[in-house]
Amino acid sequence: MKPVCLSLFTILLFCSSIASKSLDPTPSPWPLQFHSVLFMNNSGTLQKVDLWYDWPNGRNFNIIQNQLGTLKYDLEWTNGTSYVYTLDSNKECRVLHFSVGILRPNWLDGATYLGQEHVDGFLCNVWTKVDFILYYEDVVTKTPVHWVFFNGYTAHVMTFEVGAVLEDPNWQAPVYCFGEDKPLLESMVATTASSLGKLIRDVSNVSISL
Ligand SMILES: *[C@@H]1O[C@H](CO)[C@@H](O)[C@H](O)[C@H]1NC(C)=O
Ligand SMILES: *[C@@H]1O[C@H](CO)[C@@H](O)[C@H](O)[C@H]1NC(C)=O
Ligand SMILES: *[C@@H]1O[C@H](CO)[C@@H](O)[C@H](O)[C@H]1NC(C)=O
Repeated sequence: MKPVCLSLFTILLFCSSIASKSLDPTPSPWPLQFHSVLFMNNSGTLQKVDLWYDWPNGRNFNIIQNQLGTLKYDLEWTNGTSYVYTLDSNKECRVLHFSVGILRPNWLDGATYLGQEHVDGFLCNVWTKVDFILYYEDVVTKTPVHWVFFNGYTAHVMTFEVGAVLEDPNWQAPVYCFGEDKPLLESMVATTASSLGKLIRDVSNVSISL
């Protein structure tokens, strides 16, 4: 009698622990293609970022407008090459190589659920992924609202257009990214533009290696 009850109890305990685990919400995968306008705050430096995510074509674009400052382009290919450039008369370009591609649509898989929180006026589900990022998604619409990188670099999602695609000609880095005289142009400091790209590559790397 007793052992039966005990094992029944164990089964119930086991089942309920599985049930509560599977009841935790999971982050929505990123749409395969979207355009988003983000307001970023990098330790007090404010930026508006046009993010064009394009997984089927293996590319990701961060067009970064620094507040009352430079406009920088951070074009990332999933083979690991990034072109970080300006389109002004300075003709600056840096070519960076990473061992990882762009973020996968399911890069948030395996994130740890932390509960619900109001952020920017939206009720959100909150997850963390190995302390690299805090990610906030609207409970109802499942749209990302906000995220915080481990170093405090924050994003507020202003628009999120699922399926929007930037036309091909815009993905062509300028000729001076490919010229013979490129070493002279390496003077451009990685600073803000590529630090975002670097962060994204780091998050991508962590997501893949888990
Ligand atoms: C940007 O972040 C800093 C902290 O890093 C904060 O003090 C500041 O208020 C933020 N600015 C805006 C406009 O949110
Ligand atoms: C990666 O792809 C881009 C775009 O096609 C290309 O410009 C770049 O040279 C490629 N990088 C490598 C290492 O093959
Ligand atoms: C990617 O992750 C591996 C293992 O965690 C690490 O050794 C490597 O340096 C990382 N690469 C980049 C580009 O961050």
